[in-house]
Amino acid sequence: MKVLDAEFVKGFIRMATDGWEQGWHERNGGNLSYRIKPEEVGAVQEELVPREWQKIGTSVPQLAGEYFLVTGSGKYMRNVQIQPEDSICIVELDDKGEEYRICWGLVNGGKPTSELPSHLMNHEVKKTVTNGRYRVIYHAHTTNTIALTFVLPLEDEVFTRELWEMATECPVVFPDGIGIVPWMVPGGRDIAVATSELMKKYDVAIWAHHGMFCAGEDFDLTFGLMHTVEKSAEILVKVLSMTPTKRQTIQPDDFRSLAVDFKVTLPERFLYEKH
Ligand code: 13P
Ligand code: ZN
Repeated sequence: MKVLDAEFVKGFIRMATDGWEQGWHERNGGNLSYRIKPEEVGAVQEELVPREWQKIGTSVPQLAGEYFLVTGSGKYMRNVQIQPEDSICIVELDDKGEEYRICWGLVNGGKPTSELPSHLMNHEVKKTVTNGRYRVIYHAHTTNTIALTFVLPLEDEVFTRELWEMATECPVVFPDGIGIVPWMVPGGRDIAVATSELMKKYDVAIWAHHGMFCAGEDFDLTFGLMHTVEKSAEILVKVLSMTPTKRQTIQPDDFRSLAVDFKVTLPERFLYEKH
């Protein structure tokens, strides 16, 4: 089968386009990766031609030998749909999880996203803690979420609670909460380590003054998660633009009732009393 005819590739391209249409991907902002299933690799094997090995810049031994579909560094999400072979690539990892080689795509040269260390370290954590269920890592420059990192304290508890309050279904969509990475230089191992540490407990990590990372089982769930968090952030930005104080909101006991009916566990540390 041709790579471009595979369902996982179509799903990846649709997600890139959806993110672009949301306004989350100015220029080359944001990146996407998918951990390809063995049978999906097998189905497109005829088109895979390995190039030379390159250093990942970190070590992901739990991902040794796996294949990923990833966006290219400097490539634009808006071009993924019209020029997929130029914008995205399939990479294979070596048997130690320290090097990768491009096997398809990036036909005009280039390399995978500069955030490959973050993507792969997040994949490694999620593969382990979800028993292999999670396959998608998505980074976007979500406007409202970024705006909030200039006005809210950079604390997991505060971001989680404030975003839960903005829409009743938020605690059901991200019951584990949201982690915050303080401002760091992007594109390297340090920010990858900090982010993957948060991914042990959360599916969402916000990079202060930069954007968001989401992890999920498939394209729909991961895009839906990013969309839900960003929409909640948009409501909070609107509220804060009208008034610094809410007249009424969802209270800790309301969340506790919601948790019972919707059968989710909401950690008490997010349900603190406000003064
Ligand atoms: P890339 O073009 O290398 O994917 O970088 C975009 C980005 O958002 C960096 O954080
Ligand atoms: Zn970015």
